[in-house]
Amino acid sequence: MKKRILTGDRPTGKLHLGHYCGSLQHRVRLQDEYDQFVMLADVQALTDNFKTPEVVRQNILEVALDYLAVGIDFSKSTVFIQSMIPELFELTVYFLNLVSMGRLQQNPTVKTELESKSFKHGIPAGFMCYPVSQAADITLFLGELVPVGEDQHPMIEQTNELVKRFNTIYKTDVLKKAKALTDENDFGRIQGIDGKGKMSKSMNNFISLSEDTDTLRKKVRKMFTDPGHLNIEDPGKVEGNMVFYFLDLFGKDKATIEAMKEHYKRGGLADSVCKEYLFEVLEEMIAPFRERRALYAQDPAAILLLLDQGTKRAQEVAKETMYKIRRAMKINYNEPLVQAIAKP
Ligand code: TRP
Repeated sequence: MKKRILTGDRPTGKLHLGHYCGSLQHRVRLQDEYDQFVMLADVQALTDNFKTPEVVRQNILEVALDYLAVGIDFSKSTVFIQSMIPELFELTVYFLNLVSMGRLQQNPTVKTELESKSFKHGIPAGFMCYPVSQAADITLFLGELVPVGEDQHPMIEQTNELVKRFNTIYKTDVLKKAKALTDENDFGRIQGIDGKGKMSKSMNNFISLSEDTDTLRKKVRKMFTDPGHLNIEDPGKVEGNMVFYFLDLFGKDKATIEAMKEHYKRGGLADSVCKEYLFEVLEEMIAPFRERRALYAQDPAAILLLLDQGTKRAQEVAKETMYKIRRAMKINYNEPLVQAIAKP
C-alpha cells in the first residue's frame, strides 16, 4: 500500500512562487509514489476571512486551476474541499480537549500571523484553534507525510503532540504520526520581491504562478536591488539583491549567472540588464503554467466535477477513520445503539 500524503492550501488568492518552491513542486513529483490527498482548506481560510466567504468561494476555483497549471493530476491526487468533510469538525472538537490554551498561544506560526493581522474585536477563538483543526486535517486522512513549507512545521509538531495524547489516553494506535516532507533542495520559504521578508500575499511582494507577461515584467523591474548602485559603473552588491536571489533560485545557466554577478560586483552592469535576464528566466518557467491554466479555465464546470469526485473519495476515507476514532473513544453510538453500549 502506498503511503498517504495529506497537504493543502487556504483558498484566499492565486498561488505564487512561494507556494511553488515550498510545496507544489514536491506534490507534483510525489503524486505517483504516494496516495496524495490535497485539501482546499476553505474552513481554515474562513478563520480570518469569515466576513468575506465569497472571496474564499471564488478562490477555490483559482487554486484548483493553479494546481492543474503546475501539473497536479486530479486522477492521481485526491483534491477535495475541507468544508465538505463534517468529520473534520467532529475530530477538531475532540482534539480541543487535549490541548491547553497556553499551548495554543505558543504556536510560532500563529504568533507570527497575529503580528501581521489586526482583529478589531479581539482574536477569534476559531483562529487561535486552527492548528487543532489542521491536526484533524492531517490525522483524519491518516496522512503520514505532509509536504509543506517550513513555516508549517510547528503545525506538524502540534499535530504529533495531539496524536500521542490521543493514542495514549484512548489506548489505541488509530492515529498516525505525521512527518513534514521538506526537500533537501528546499530553500525554506522564499523571499518576496521587496527584499523585506518572506513572499506572501498579505505583504503584496509576490509573483503569482499565473502572472501575465506585462505584470511579470513590471514586478521584476520593481524588484529590490542594491540601493547603493546608482550609476552603471559603480560596483554593486549581490547579497540581498533580489534579482540575483531569484536568479540563483530559478536560473538554470549557473555559469552565466556567476559571470553576471562578477560583472555586477566590478561595476559596469546595469540593473535593467540583469532584470531583463531574470524576466526571461521567470517567463520561461511561468509561460507553460499560464497556458495550461488558460486551457483549463475555459471549462470551470469540468473542474468542479473533478473536485466533486475528489471530495467523495475523501468523504469515504474520513468516514472510515472516524468510525475507528469513535470506537477508540467509546462513543460509537453511530453503530447500532444497543450493540455500541453493550460492547464499546
Ligand atoms: N495551513 C496551511 C497554509 O496556510 C493550509 C493547510 C490547512 C494545510 N490544512 C492543512 C497544510 C493540512 C497541510 C496539511 O498554507
